Amino acid sequence: MDNVLEIKNLKKIYHTKEGETLAVEDFTFNLKEGDFVAIVGPSGCGKSTILSVLCGLEEKSGGDIKLKKGSKIGYMLQQDSLFEWRNILDNCLLGLEINKNLNKETKEHVINLLNTYGLKDFIYSYPDNLSGGMRQRVLRILYTHK
Ligand SMILES: Nc1ncnc2c1ncn2[C@@H]1O[C@H](COP(=O)(O)OP(=O)(O)OP(=O)(O)O)[C@@H](O)[C@H]1O
Ligand SMILES: [Mg+2]
Repeated sequence: MDNVLEIKNLKKIYHTKEGETLAVEDFTFNLKEGDFVAIVGPSGCGKSTILSVLCGLEEKSGGDIKLKKGSKIGYMLQQDSLFEWRNILDNCLLGLEINKNLNKETKEHVINLLNTYGLKDFIYSYPDNLSGGMRQRVLRILYTHK
């Protein structure tokens, strides 16, 4: 397989109580190694849907998706999932906490990462006080350190 990713005639229909929404139709797209691509289009045209299907959060209704063997997909959600009642540090420690990997060393590592990501002054702030970009940087730590 030459491409890292091959999407052919992707189709996605959402089924809800209110009815059906055709979110994506006939989307075909190839990605080569090293490509940096932006998907642009008006609000509601199906960009997030494509990414959600790609990473397995949603099931496709039709078409084909081929990912080169050994490739991995990382996905930063449009709507973040920070807990508003936990401060930034506690949000970042959540995965470690749940997986019982939280100790002095792992906590220190997360604090160092927060420093590296320019969030030093916000460690004890609550998500509500952060900008969108800052929240995304917090998520990056949250997702990678479990
Ligand atoms: N979970 C869902 N259930 C039902 N319909 C949905 C769902 N998610 C998206 N849709 C519908 O699918 C269509 C595409 O939505 P999508 O979120 O993919 O758009 P988008 O291009 O990412 O928009 P935006 O630029 O506003 O983020 C819209 O009509 C939307 O209402
Ligand atoms: Mg979107």
